[in-house]
Amino acid sequence: MRVQDFARSIVTSPDLETKLKRPPEAPDWSLREEDLDLSDLPRSPTRAPSMQIVGPRKARTPSLEGWADPAQRRKILHALTNHELQAAELFAWALLAFPEAPEEFRHGLWEILQDEQRHTRMYRARLQAHGGQFGDYPVSGHFWHKIGGIVSPAHFVCAMSLTFENANLDHTVESSQAALDGGDPGSAVVIDQIRRDEMVHVSFGWRWLRHFKRPEQSMWEAYRESLVVPLHAGRATGKSFDPAPRRELGMDEAFIEELRQAHDLTGAGGHRLDKPGGKPVR
Ligand SMILES: [Fe+2]
Ligand SMILES: [Fe+2]
Repeated sequence: MRVQDFARSIVTSPDLETKLKRPPEAPDWSLREEDLDLSDLPRSPTRAPSMQIVGPRKARTPSLEGWADPAQRRKILHALTNHELQAAELFAWALLAFPEAPEEFRHGLWEILQDEQRHTRMYRARLQAHGGQFGDYPVSGHFWHKIGGIVSPAHFVCAMSLTFENANLDHTVESSQAALDGGDPGSAVVIDQIRRDEMVHVSFGWRWLRHFKRPEQSMWEAYRESLVVPLHAGRATGKSFDPAPRRELGMDEAFIEELRQAHDLTGAGGHRLDKPGGKPVR
């Protein structure tokens, strides 16, 4: 099966099992002329009726303190499953959006796509272990809503790897602790496994931003230049900010310091900036 056809099926099929299907072992990387025509590039995923993306007000997620309560815990795990599903759809989307990007970059997207499918299955299994099903609650399109200005691989890695997945280095620490505190060690184990994969994904973005940037630019300058509105650097951290995993994956100290300042300036990972005057919303 061709990579482009597989990627398109993940974005455009309403069927969850198709979105989570394991890819062919020997994928066909050939491109056809139609693959280079981006006029029909999807701007949103096709979803089954029960999994349709709705506005953020209709898809509220309980705060992590709710983990101890089975009903709230199911809603949290449901939202985490949806985050990972969006990530899988968006890495598939990137394969469609950037057919002419370097081959090695596209191979990286392909590997991460499979990780995101696996993460979706892992959270879905935790949801099912607690008696829930994916589709039980309304879901938001938090990541998909930010793709408007993403027209280059550099834009993509700055949004996906260096902002959303970067923030997940903190979110996963916070949610793993909340799962433990809430009496759900099984979910904490899953979250910790996912954090290790996210480090690899952030490192992918770091490596490729270094490749795409102009030689005279610092990594921070390149990141800020390619980060498309409404995203901002405060979104690249969680409520907490831990420099250690960033150091471990090879981010430079100047970049980490800028992240720290963005975190301190925007407060709690920029949530207050996104919702002026409002409470932080996760
Ligand atoms: Fe993930
Ligand atoms: Fe990821």
